[in-house]
Amino acid sequence: MATDPAQPEKPGLVRPEKGSCAEALGLIFAPLKQKDGFRHGAIGAPGTGKTHGLRKVVAAALEQHLIDVVLTHDVKGADPDFPDGHQCTSIEDALHGEDPHKVFRGDFYTDRLIDVEEVAQLGKRLLQRERLRVMLNVGELKDALSDGGRAWTSPTTLWFSAQARALQGCFCWTVQQPKRVPDEIWDQSTTISMHRVLKRSLNYLRSTLELDDEMVYVLPQLARGEFVVYQPELDWNGRVYMWPP
Ligand SMILES: Nc1ncnc2c1ncn2[C@@H]1O[C@H](COP(=O)(O)OP(=O)(O)OP(=O)(O)O)[C@@H](O)[C@H]1O
Ligand SMILES: [Mg+2]
Repeated sequence: MATDPAQPEKPGLVRPEKGSCAEALGLIFAPLKQKDGFRHGAIGAPGTGKTHGLRKVVAAALEQHLIDVVLTHDVKGADPDFPDGHQCTSIEDALHGEDPHKVFRGDFYTDRLIDVEEVAQLGKRLLQRERLRVMLNVGELKDALSDGGRAWTSPTTLWFSAQARALQGCFCWTVQQPKRVPDEIWDQSTTISMHRVLKRSLNYLRSTLELDDEMVYVLPQLARGEFVVYQPELDWNGRVYMWPP
């Protein structure tokens, strides 16, 4: 963890231990052991490693044969966030190619973007009709939300968050600003990777999620790539994780 010499350690707070990434992945994937889809989010200030972490989650889910197909919505920049998968410029593209990871980009240079709702609908069809274990990976959750983030504009993304679990459908997302998400996301997620957050987001998270004091103390000090795992129904395990490069 990045230590800030200007900030003396508070007495009475636990020192976080380092945990292995295998352990973090085990927590994220744990619901599948009960045949329940996992719902995993990553929160943190810009550039703190949320997308980097989701690349590892996608790779591990496929390597461990936990998931048959990953559908990634990745329309953010001129370069893909998920360059390793089958890059699709349309939903029809996904029907071709053997790669189980389909990355929906649209075309950044012509403004022909693919709506997250279309990707989620494809995922729902594959879950219901083909009985495939599908993971919907929404690069930026705000693409499925209204301005301000309090309502869903993509009903099928909401379905992935709330209902796909029964068919072992899994759902991943990233968010920079925790204030800008619908409240139910906190209850529907099985794990949330919390990367470094800004102080004003911290106050919101503390009051909304009733975070442990120790976690609140650690969150603003995390270095890029470091994260803690929030599990809605459990106390913090006191571990800080770091994804490999
Ligand atoms: N554990 C890590 N090891 C090495 N590089 C990392 C690690 N985590 C993040 N990075 C690098 O830091 C940069 C920013 O990471 P990333 O794109 O994942 O941030 P982000 O939180 O998704 O940001 P944004 O909110 O802007 O999308 C990237 O170049 C990424 O490769
Ligand atoms: Mg990102």
